[in-house]
Amino acid sequence: MEEKINKYINDITNISNSNESDVGSIKDRYLGKKGILSQLLSEFKTLSGEQKKKNGKLLNKFKMLVNDKLKINDSTEKTNKKKSSNIDFSLPSTFENNGSIHPLSILKHKIIQIFEKVGFEISSGPEIEDDWHNFSALNMPHNHPARDMQDTFFININPDVLLRTHTSSVQIRYMESNNPPMRIISPGRVYRNEDISARANCFFHQIEGLYIDENVSFADLKKIIIYFLQNLFGEKVKTRFRPSFFPFTEPSAEVDIYWGLNNESDYRITKGTGWLEIMGCGMIDPNVLDNVNIDSKKYSGYAFGLGIERIAMLLYQIDDLRLFFENDVRFLRQFKSLN
Ligand code: DAH
Repeated sequence: MEEKINKYINDITNISNSNESDVGSIKDRYLGKKGILSQLLSEFKTLSGEQKKKNGKLLNKFKMLVNDKLKINDSTEKTNKKKSSNIDFSLPSTFENNGSIHPLSILKHKIIQIFEKVGFEISSGPEIEDDWHNFSALNMPHNHPARDMQDTFFININPDVLLRTHTSSVQIRYMESNNPPMRIISPGRVYRNEDISARANCFFHQIEGLYIDENVSFADLKKIIIYFLQNLFGEKVKTRFRPSFFPFTEPSAEVDIYWGLNNESDYRITKGTGWLEIMGCGMIDPNVLDNVNIDSKKYSGYAFGLGIERIAMLLYQIDDLRLFFENDVRFLRQFKSLN
């Protein structure tokens, strides 16, 4: 046995210290379950007392050598690990081309959230509409002068088919297929035959609101609109309701917020008044309820509609509507922080 141990001692001392890949195999070969050390130990157990004394020392020496060797290699392993942990994982990535959410979508989601908080559900309708849903059912029969206010794209082959001019058409669709009480908002794209300029485009986006129940009053309408404007523009926003006309609501109003008159641009965008029109609203005309078979003696309701671009222009101080649709990344990139 003595000879055997000496041979192993010789072997282990000759293993090169720098050969790092050997760590695993040294461990296995010498310290593994069926490794050299365990074989020597079982052999050692069978020796007589005298022999044990003699070989014990040698065996200890061998054990220490193996441990030493592994320690050396362990530490090379550690320095290696240290080296690799020099990588700073907290450094920001250099990948810059990830996209951002379009400002109109950011605002749309913000508005949806405000209304969802108080129980409004989302409902949507088609962009290609028929005359009934876009006009007639909304108390705008053929030849009604109010139709002129919304220059319409008709589909030539069928004058009954058009691109919706407002999201009010979704009110009709929803009322036709649901029973009160109902409380919805409908965001969506609308189309009008307008010349493209800094202030107008042939398509834009609106959000429509509708609430119908028993005993709904103008006070309820004012409350929801003030709640909405305070959430969007801040608690201190100053609002006013101005009498107006829409065929589908009676009474109707337009809502203004006080923008201020602090600089030249304030004068320009508020036309010197300090006030800015934000949305239209009113109590749903009983004729509209009758058109969709909702009992106008039992139920009443309010509706409102606002333009997303208009509000986005105010909130983000954008003075040319066309920027929203050109998809210039230099413009879009500026909204990353709002995502
Ligand atoms: N549909 C109107 C428009 O596009 C906006 C509007 C006004 C919607 C009053 C409403 C409302 O629901 O009550 O100009």
